[in-house]
Amino acid sequence: MRIRSISSLRENDCIAKPIYNEHGQILLNKGYTLTSSMIHRLKEKGVTYVYIEDNTTKDIYVDDVITDRTRIESLEVIKDNFLTISKEMTLGKSIDMDKLSPSFSRIVTNILTEITSHKEAVSMLSNVFCYDSYVFHHSLNVTVYSLALGKKYGLNAKQLEELGLGAILHDIGKIAIPLEVLNKTDSLSDEEFRLIQEHSTIGFDILRKSHTIPLLTAHCAYQHHERMDGSGYPRGISGKDIHLYAKLIGVADVFDAVTANRVYRKARLPHEALEILFAGVNTLFEKDMVEAFAKTIAIYPVGLEVKLSDGRTAVVAKQNPELPSRPTVLVINNDEGEAVEPYELSLLEHLNVTIVSCETTLSQEVAS
Ligand SMILES: [Fe+2]
Repeated sequence: MRIRSISSLRENDCIAKPIYNEHGQILLNKGYTLTSSMIHRLKEKGVTYVYIEDNTTKDIYVDDVITDRTRIESLEVIKDNFLTISKEMTLGKSIDMDKLSPSFSRIVTNILTEITSHKEAVSMLSNVFCYDSYVFHHSLNVTVYSLALGKKYGLNAKQLEELGLGAILHDIGKIAIPLEVLNKTDSLSDEEFRLIQEHSTIGFDILRKSHTIPLLTAHCAYQHHERMDGSGYPRGISGKDIHLYAKLIGVADVFDAVTANRVYRKARLPHEALEILFAGVNTLFEKDMVEAFAKTIAIYPVGLEVKLSDGRTAVVAKQNPELPSRPTVLVINNDEGEAVEPYELSLLEHLNVTIVSCETTLSQEVAS
């Protein structure tokens, strides 16, 4: 299977992985042959990438970091709980986080189990879910990225649980921010920007009143927008004053924000998001955290079409966990652009060949 951007899909392309609607039900199943009206519908629903099956790449298999079932069940819980909290806040009632926290903890445990048994670099480019609200998906994605990063960073089981809970709830304060401000496509006024920034303090206030949620978890909500040089918010604290968990979540948060498709801009690919993180090393993020993250995620996800430095075209076939920037690829075109009998090439063994760009249509899609 291979990844295609929504704009390069063609009629009769065959879906390789199920696509779900916003209620977690299968919209298009594996094996479905696309029609032009369905491609149009997927575009309208905000789907960015789709996995398709073709003859050339039939031996390429994508191993997801969390199963579709875990993703769907976790999203349901996050959505239900967030909406309950939002309702209680609107009614001016006190929020009973103690009642909700066990279900959040269960999600963290499930994700941690799946991450532990998943040996490959983490990729969630396969966001083949239509969704109605960004914050639920973002909370789940940031939890997966934070836990994978925390594990690579050497945190113990108890720390990972605390970190996971902090990650799942880091943006809980956003439920108090009007959607028209969160999803605004034009640039924000100073007042709207200030309003959005309040989500970290609002989140902290919700979480710290709970007896079952560790205070450290509440601090993840409070501090995840603080930056190493003090340029973050809400307090502008810096360096060692920012808690380890909040720093890890900050890295995962930025990566997911950049790679997600938003109403006001298109998603970028993992290697581009990573460049943004590396550009912020020491000023915004801790160097060893960004380096650990680069070793955790799939920089070039399996199924992605890439251009090699010698002019050949290939599709990423396998991750090399020891060096995610140099996967094994399946060469499909020679340097003249002519189709060849596909053959594998390990970029780990051929160090003189590098990936110089990704599928043109995909790059255009993500860069526009
Ligand atoms: Fe946030």
